[in-house]
Amino acid sequence: METLVRTEAKTKVQFQVFSDLEKISHKAAEMFVNVSRTCSISQGKFSVALSGGSTPKRLYSLLGSVEYRPQIDWQRVHFFWADERCVPKDHKESNFKTVFDTLLSKITIPGENIHRIRGEEDPDKAAIDYEEDVRKFFGMSGLPMFDLVILGMGEDGHTASLFSGSKALEERGRLVVPVYLEKPKINRITLTLPVLNNAAQIFFLVTGRSKATILSEILGNGRKKEQYPAGLIRPIQGRLLWLIDQEASGKLKRQGECC
Ligand code: 6PG
Repeated sequence: METLVRTEAKTKVQFQVFSDLEKISHKAAEMFVNVSRTCSISQGKFSVALSGGSTPKRLYSLLGSVEYRPQIDWQRVHFFWADERCVPKDHKESNFKTVFDTLLSKITIPGENIHRIRGEEDPDKAAIDYEEDVRKFFGMSGLPMFDLVILGMGEDGHTASLFSGSKALEERGRLVVPVYLEKPKINRITLTLPVLNNAAQIFFLVTGRSKATILSEILGNGRKKEQYPAGLIRPIQGRLLWLIDQEASGKLKRQGECC
């Protein structure tokens, strides 16, 4: 494994190349344990926003496993979501269901620590309600600062539910907005760029050859990075770490050593 660090302006962008998703997931779980412990001790709580999709499922399962579960003080962990599909919470497409099945069903955590996006409700109302919940937790003024955000990247370069060409990408005032996707016809709810980029730490988990071209444009020196929503994720002061597998890193100039 090789950590290639590139400092861009104030943002320190790091990426680490791993041989496969299993190693990425264990590394992410170890770092989750460490950052949750540090935050729980220093501030008495740890706020994390999770993404859906398939890539982070193994991470969530590991966090709920006997290997990692006992290392985390779940009473102090507050789960949020980076985005959600507008479906019932037991629907197979629900990001809440993904986290419930892999992690929440395996741990003991206070109900008030689960800040679910109510995908079953009207999208506009669900976005307003979730923003209120986020504000109540972080304070009514200024931008919320999540201790950690876990993101994935779609094959088109989207992240959370921020898609190229979407009005949601331009939103700078609201923390949470509804998004309507033509294909497949579905409503979603997403955190906006200002909130995501205000996070203290962001882990991007990206695997697969199908993402190699876009990833090389985002992590390379190309000027096209900003055409992809994932390329717009640049924490203002926080740390951004890309955990990628060898296939996804296939077009990056400097090939890291595989671990
Ligand atoms: C979602 C996610 C989304 C996901 C990417 C990557 O709700 O679908 O938030 O942004 O992270 O689509 O998905 P994979 O991990 O399945 O490639």
